Amino acid sequence: MSDENTKLAGPDLGEGIPSADLAEGGMILGQVAGEAVLLARSGGAVFAIGAECSHYHGPLVEGVLVADTVRCPWHHACFSLRTGEALRAPALDPVPCWRVEQRDGRIYVREKLEPAARSARAVAQPGPESIVIIGGGAAGSAAAEMLRREGYARPVTMLSADDHGPYDRPNLSKDYLAGSVPEEWIPLRPPEFYAARAIELKLGARVAAIDPGAREIRLADDSRYDYGALLLATGAAPIRLTIPGIELPHIHYLRTLADSRAIVAAASAARRAVVIGASFIGLEVAASLRARGLEVHVVAPETHPMDRVLGRDVADLVRKVHDDHGVVFHLGTTPASLEQSHVMLQSGEQLDADFVVVGVGVRPETGLAEQAGLAVDRGVAVDAYLQTSVPGIWAAGDIARWPDRLTGEKIRIEHWVVAERQGQTAARNMLGAGERFDAVPFFWTQQHDLLLSYAGHAAKWDRVEIDGSLAGKDCTVTYRESGRKLAVLTIGRDRASLAAEIELEKMIAAGA
Ligand SMILES: Cc1cc2nc3c(=O)[nH]c(=O)nc-3n(C[C@H](O)[C@H](O)[C@H](O)COP(=O)(O)OP(=O)(O)OC[C@H]3O[C@@H](n4cnc5c(N)ncnc54)[C@H](O)[C@@H]3O)c2cc1C
Ligand code: FES
Repeated sequence: MSDENTKLAGPDLGEGIPSADLAEGGMILGQVAGEAVLLARSGGAVFAIGAECSHYHGPLVEGVLVADTVRCPWHHACFSLRTGEALRAPALDPVPCWRVEQRDGRIYVREKLEPAARSARAVAQPGPESIVIIGGGAAGSAAAEMLRREGYARPVTMLSADDHGPYDRPNLSKDYLAGSVPEEWIPLRPPEFYAARAIELKLGARVAAIDPGAREIRLADDSRYDYGALLLATGAAPIRLTIPGIELPHIHYLRTLADSRAIVAAASAARRAVVIGASFIGLEVAASLRARGLEVHVVAPETHPMDRVLGRDVADLVRKVHDDHGVVFHLGTTPASLEQSHVMLQSGEQLDADFVVVGVGVRPETGLAEQAGLAVDRGVAVDAYLQTSVPGIWAAGDIARWPDRLTGEKIRIEHWVVAERQGQTAARNMLGAGERFDAVPFFWTQQHDLLLSYAGHAAKWDRVEIDGSLAGKDCTVTYRESGRKLAVLTIGRDRASLAAEIELEKMIAAGA
């Protein structure tokens, strides 16, 4: 993905276009004074906003209009056509807006507008005395930003055990690890961003305990913070293997920027890597290390990686794409021990390895919640508003198990977009919004030239329908249980992925 995905194209909208060229529900890509502009007609009104998504520059003209919003085709961010505001993550910044004039049967795009003043919903009620967020990842940082966007003016503190400010974690196993984007891409915000919004960001700050009765937090260094309301967003941590040799310095896990940097450093001096685990992260690491020209071997106990998550047909495609790119699989076996220069498998095979990356899943970081006496059930139990069993304490992201509006089941999901959107919803609810979390889960994965987009959540299914060609990497795969559509995976069909998300949203709304 480059910085300039939406090249200047289409008509000069300053010169105007015939009104009839823009049908109701239509979008046109054009330009004004050297900037790419999206012209859209919805509900009879005509809007002009920036044509590039503020997340990774996705081309909004290839997205979908829903009422007075447009959804990005790449990772499903949502922007207001009226104000340009980024209504839903993963985009965090607005896109610009222009004034539109309709005269003599033509539409003209005039001057750029100043960002609209936000409605001061939260300002009317000052909200809790202070808000503390534990975790500086997807959920925590999205929540902190949303508190300020909503006009919350009291103290906000974000405590993160990480030594780096919030960053783009999904990229750590993709372009950054492959060496195709610089590290400047990784921070979500420049350091001054938080100070400018009076968000106190404390790095290297590991919280050791929460006292809900006293509304007090104790850090590992024994410093303390009071809170009016608290958001737990501690994410997940890689599951550690316990086999001989696991402590050797050339064995890596991947969760943090420091982890990814260490793998990049190892890869730059290596010829051959072994990846243990054929999880999404393991397979993305395998693809990125192949892109760096390394010989890559993947070891996993399952015989068909991704089968349980994506079904056999898609799993076979994933496997084939890796085979075609030279990844060597050792399946149906696990490592018995790790040595300085090789990995011994249970199968008796010995694999040479200059370094090893372990990606065998993650566990939610629920220790603090347990210590504080919150209800924990394979994740921190939250209600539809993301509040935990203790009033005044919310939870969001990889740790939260919430009631899924579509199935009624309690689910916990490890997706970037879900974590950010939960952070945003929790922030609004801490200010009294009373908003149910009902976003349709969405994630994507990039492995070699294969990009999978997945909307919905199917922990299990009894029918898989494939429309199009898997081999041709142009298809829609629908997962159903008892006839009910639960999730849709697409390859090369971004609009179909958005359409699935919108359909699942309607099903949720109809059942509400
Ligand atoms: C390499 C990689 C690639 C991924 N790729 C994708 C992808 O392509 N698509 C996708 O949808 N998802 C992807 N994910 C998953 C996604 O990144 C997570 O779902 C998301 O980051 C979860 O957000 P979170 O805020 O819950 O947790 P995190 O982002 O992990 O943040 C947790 C934060 O809590 C802090 N913390 C933990 N314990 C404490 C404590 N006691 N005190 C203080 N701070 C603490 C941590 O330091 C961290 O700052 C990927 C994950 C990884 C690791
Ligand atoms: S590029 Fe638009 S959501 Fe990612």
